[in-house]
Amino acid sequence: MQGHSQYVPTSGFGKWIDARLPLPRLVYDSFIAYPVPKNLNYFWTFGGILSIMLVCQIVTGIVLAMHYTAHVDMAFNSVEHIMRDVNYGWLLRYLHATGASMFFIAVYVHMLRGLYYGSYKDPREVLWILGVIIYLLMMATAFMGYVLPWGQMSMWGAVVITNLFSAIPLVGPTVVEYLWGGYSVDNPTLNRFFSLHYLLPFMIAGVVVLHVWALHVTGQNNPTGVEVKDVKKDTVPFTPYATIKDAFGMAVFFIMFMYFTFFQPNYLGHAVNYVPADPLVTPAHIVPEWYFLPFYAILRAITFDINLVVLTIPSKLGGVLAMFAAIAVLAFLPWLDTSKVKSTAYRPLHKQFFWAFVIVCVMLGWLGSKPPEGIFPMLSLIFTGLYFAYFLVALPLLGLFETPKPLPASIADSVLGKAKGGAPVVVGANAAPEVKG
Ligand code: HEM
Repeated sequence: MQGHSQYVPTSGFGKWIDARLPLPRLVYDSFIAYPVPKNLNYFWTFGGILSIMLVCQIVTGIVLAMHYTAHVDMAFNSVEHIMRDVNYGWLLRYLHATGASMFFIAVYVHMLRGLYYGSYKDPREVLWILGVIIYLLMMATAFMGYVLPWGQMSMWGAVVITNLFSAIPLVGPTVVEYLWGGYSVDNPTLNRFFSLHYLLPFMIAGVVVLHVWALHVTGQNNPTGVEVKDVKKDTVPFTPYATIKDAFGMAVFFIMFMYFTFFQPNYLGHAVNYVPADPLVTPAHIVPEWYFLPFYAILRAITFDINLVVLTIPSKLGGVLAMFAAIAVLAFLPWLDTSKVKSTAYRPLHKQFFWAFVIVCVMLGWLGSKPPEGIFPMLSLIFTGLYFAYFLVALPLLGLFETPKPLPASIADSVLGKAKGGAPVVVGANAAPEVKG
């Protein structure tokens, strides 16, 4: 929603800087006058929540790094030193560790919001793909961060995940040597993970700038999925309407964040990571953090070699490919979903498939936490199949066969309860009371 800037500098300094580096104009146009659809609900506050969480992680991370030592002989103890000796070190560490989990909770809500309201569709494909890149970077950052305390799960998690790359044909073993910086997960591995864990959040911040730029070009989607037609009637200025709503969303989210930080700081972690890393003792179950569990289940679902007449894909490579494909498929979503209607509020069939997909993801998460024995690998395979079927079968076909509900003529009409054909449509928390007739 690019428009002409309405910024008028009032002070002498304002005019001077506007002619040289118009930063105040950029802020005014992007966060004050910027028009947002008037029917946005609280799911649209999660972008702001994510931005704050990123800043929180960077700030706490930088201070933690002042006290942390990236050496296999000292890393574990340096974390204990932070917890016991550094002033408020325990708070810093718990904010950072629970912050990572909260960041993923927020990103999953943000992504599911996009999925439900079709925010990835034309014209927001690039915005969505930038989001997928951010998500990949977040996963890499979180994985390497978890290795740093050098507990049992840190080290063995690193062993399992880095070993996956050895499945890549021809270059796999060389890639793994580069990742390790030697012939096993050891001090050079910890050092490079620390270095990258420090670097990647800044790359995420860079991609977030592009993400928000792309957002300001297309404008926000909204719960009806109907694009803005009349800026005057369909939108309100970002400040105060969106700012105050975002602030409230952030406050509620922060209450949850503080609850975990102060009352359940280890609830989302693994107790075994309070045991120093020991290359000679393998933990009974090596399980990643909760936010990786669905992908871990997909990785372990392929327990057999795949025979493709001309070539055979060994089970390990099959698992790795399935896991990466599960993330990569998200990038193709704008083209896999053939429906002309964006918002699931008007897609009765997709609504059912969407919730079925959420259940599939939760089931995969649960399966990822189970040992790969008994019925679990078979269940993982079934749910992996369902995960891919949603993207590759359901979404392309639903668009062709589903009859959507009538859309409101405009955002303003939906807010006023007027819909095409006269039927009242109430969408989102801001909808006006039903208007009959
Ligand atoms: C550090 C992580 C991220 C940050 C800071 C961030 C930030 C934002 C912000 C500020 C907005 C506008 C407010 C809103 O709509 O909630 C937004 C919108 C959006 N984001 Fe993100 N985002 C992140 C990750 C992601 C990811 C992982 C995806 C998808 C894979 C994604 C997809 C989208 C989409 C499609 C929109 C447009 C939504 C709409 O207008 O309906 N974002 N993001």
